[in-house]
Amino acid sequence: MPKALYPGSFDPITYGHIDVLVRAKKLFRPLIVAVVENPRKTPLFSVEERKRLVEEALREVGIGDVGVITYSGLLIECAKSLGVDVIVRGLRATSDFDYEFQLALTNRDLDSDVETVFLMTAGKYSFLSSSIVKEVARYGGDVSKFVPKCVERALKDKYHSKYHS
Ligand code: PNS
Repeated sequence: MPKALYPGSFDPITYGHIDVLVRAKKLFRPLIVAVVENPRKTPLFSVEERKRLVEEALREVGIGDVGVITYSGLLIECAKSLGVDVIVRGLRATSDFDYEFQLALTNRDLDSDVETVFLMTAGKYSFLSSSIVKEVARYGGDVSKFVPKCVERALKDKYHSKYHS
């Protein structure tokens, strides 16, 4: 089976990410999740917190046999250093396409040996993003349908300490 890297900010991981990961796991082995810095975003959770939440979330939903790493730098360098064949990215709606197209073609230009493969999320998660989850959690809304319990708790703690300290 081809070896794949599933990179993202995962700030925090959602059921949408997990849905893509489950699909990717059927196609690739090993599958490595890389929690990567996105220079366009200011994260809520540190990279180490995000990694820990990915690990806890996967344990909570009963998914094993997935490596989780952090990486800071060019994604393609990470892919090359791990010797992966494929970069997996999730697609939700057409609004994702322009950015994903740009990312995939830039990565291909940097190294044409690594293919980007897009997997579509389940329709029920097509509206879901980490940003939306954070917005709902920030104002005290219920995010239990969007993220595993460990993430829900981490969001509560983070926003509580942010606004009540
Ligand atoms: O979950 P995200 O924020 O959509 O993930 C984007 C991510 C982290 C995969 C992307 O920002 C990335 O690859 N960052 C590392 C820097 C890089 O290689 N950028 C692409 C080439 S310009």
